[in-house]
Amino acid sequence: RQPNPAYPASLLMKLSRGHRTLLRGLGRMADKQGVALYLVGGVVRDLLLNRNNLDLDLAVEGDGIAFARRMCRRYRTAATVFDKFATARLRMPSGLKLDVASTRRESYVHAAALPAVEPASLQEDLYRRDFTINAMAIKLNALTFGRLEDPFEGVRDLSAKRIRILHEGSFQDDPTRIFRAIRFAERFGFTIESKTGRLLAEAASTDFVARLSGPRLRNEIFLLLGEHRPSRSMEQLDRLKLLRFLHPTLRYGKAVRRVMDSLSAALAWWEGQTGKRPADIPMLRLMALLSQSGPSVIRAVAQRLQLSSAQAVALSYAEDRTARLLVELSRERILPSEVYRSLAPVPDEAFVLVAAKARVLRRSKAADRVKRRLNRYLRRDRHLRITVDGHDLATLGLKPGPQFKIILDRLLEARIDGKVRSAAEERKLASRMVLEAGKRRQSPL
Ligand code: CTP
Repeated sequence: RQPNPAYPASLLMKLSRGHRTLLRGLGRMADKQGVALYLVGGVVRDLLLNRNNLDLDLAVEGDGIAFARRMCRRYRTAATVFDKFATARLRMPSGLKLDVASTRRESYVHAAALPAVEPASLQEDLYRRDFTINAMAIKLNALTFGRLEDPFEGVRDLSAKRIRILHEGSFQDDPTRIFRAIRFAERFGFTIESKTGRLLAEAASTDFVARLSGPRLRNEIFLLLGEHRPSRSMEQLDRLKLLRFLHPTLRYGKAVRRVMDSLSAALAWWEGQTGKRPADIPMLRLMALLSQSGPSVIRAVAQRLQLSSAQAVALSYAEDRTARLLVELSRERILPSEVYRSLAPVPDEAFVLVAAKARVLRRSKAADRVKRRLNRYLRRDRHLRITVDGHDLATLGLKPGPQFKIILDRLLEARIDGKVRSAAEERKLASRMVLEAGKRRQSPL
C-alpha cells in the first residue's frame, strides 16, 4: 500500500532519513498487527518547533507490549518491560532508545501518587497529559503516515507561545507539572496561559508538592537547574514560594542570584583550564542555590532530595566550606603547597563554585590573590609530579611504615613550592629525609 498523499509526511521529513525509514517500517508492522501506531509527546512538539529531540516515544492503540515484543524480534534487540505501566523500552541496534506504550487512561488514587493505568483510546491518552503542546501525536500507519493528531489545539498554543493544561485537576493529579510548566515556559520563552497560571499558583499554595517522593522532586529540580538559564526559573520558584518544599527558609535572594549568574563565566574559565566540564551541572547550580544557607539547611535539603552520598558531600561545600576556602586563599601569606593541600580534595563542582564566588567578591587585593591562586593551582600545581617513588625510598634505606607517605608528600610540597627544581635535587632532599627518619627511629626519646 502506498502512503496517502493527502497526509504529507512533511513533519517527519525533519527527522533523519534513518529514523524515518525506521518509523515507516514500524507503521507497516502495526498494520500487520492491526493496531494504530503513533509518535507522541515531546518529540511531536519539538518537530513543530524545529528543535532536536532524540527521544522517540511511541504509543500503540492496542497491546503495546505485544507490539514491542514484535519489534524486538524484527530488529533483533531486547526490551525492558514495565508491565504495571504497560510500557517497554527498547534499544535499537543503532543505539537509539525507543519507548513503547499502550494508549491509556490514568487515575490518581490521591494527589501526587503514581497513577493506575488502564487501556484507552489515543484521544484519552492525549487528554491525560500535562499540556496541550505535549498532547499531540503523529500517525505512523502506512495509509496515514505523518498525519498530525491534535485534538486539544496544541498547534494553536504553540503558535501563541502558550503553556496550557488540559483539565482543572492536572496539577493536583501530578504536582511535578508545576515545575514542568515553569521549565517549558523558560525553555521556549512561552507564557503560562492565565487560567493555567491561576491553577498553578493555587496548587503551589497547597502541600501537594510536599507529597512528592525525594527522587521525583529531585528529578524536577535537577531538570529545571539543567536548563540553559536557570536563574529565571529559580525566581519563579521563589515568587510562588515553591522553594519551601526544599527547605522552609530557602529564598532566591540577590546574593544567591549573583553567585548563580556568575557560574557560567566560572565554568567557562574552568573548562578552558582543564579541558573538561564538571560532570554534574544541575548539582553545581543546586550548590549555588544553597550558597547562602547554613550547614543544617544544606543537610536537610540533601535528605529531602535523597541525594547520593557523593552528591551530599559536594553539596556540603555549598556554603561554609567554600567560604572558608575563600578566606584561606585570600590570606596574604600562604605557600602554594598549602593551597594545593586545601584544593586537592575539593570536588570539581565545589571548585567551580569557589571560582564563581571569587568573581562576585568586590575588587580588592585579597580577591586578586584568590583568583591568582586558583589559576596557579589549576594551571600548574595540580599537574606536578615527583620522580622519587616508594621504591627509591626503600633503596635509600627507609624501613616500612607511615614515613613513606609523609616523605613523598613533603617532597611533592617542596616541588610545588620550588624548593627542589630537578630530579637530582629531589633525590638529595629524599636521602636527607630518610636519614633524619632513621635518626629519629634510633633516638632514645
Ligand atoms: N507527560 C505528562 N505529565 C508528566 C510527564 C510527562 O503528561 N508529568 C507526558 C507529556 O505528554 C510529555 C511526555 O509525557 O510530552 C514525555 O515526557 P518527558 O519525556 O518527561 O517530557 P518531554 O515532553 O519529552 O520533554 P523534554 O524535552 O524535557 O524531555
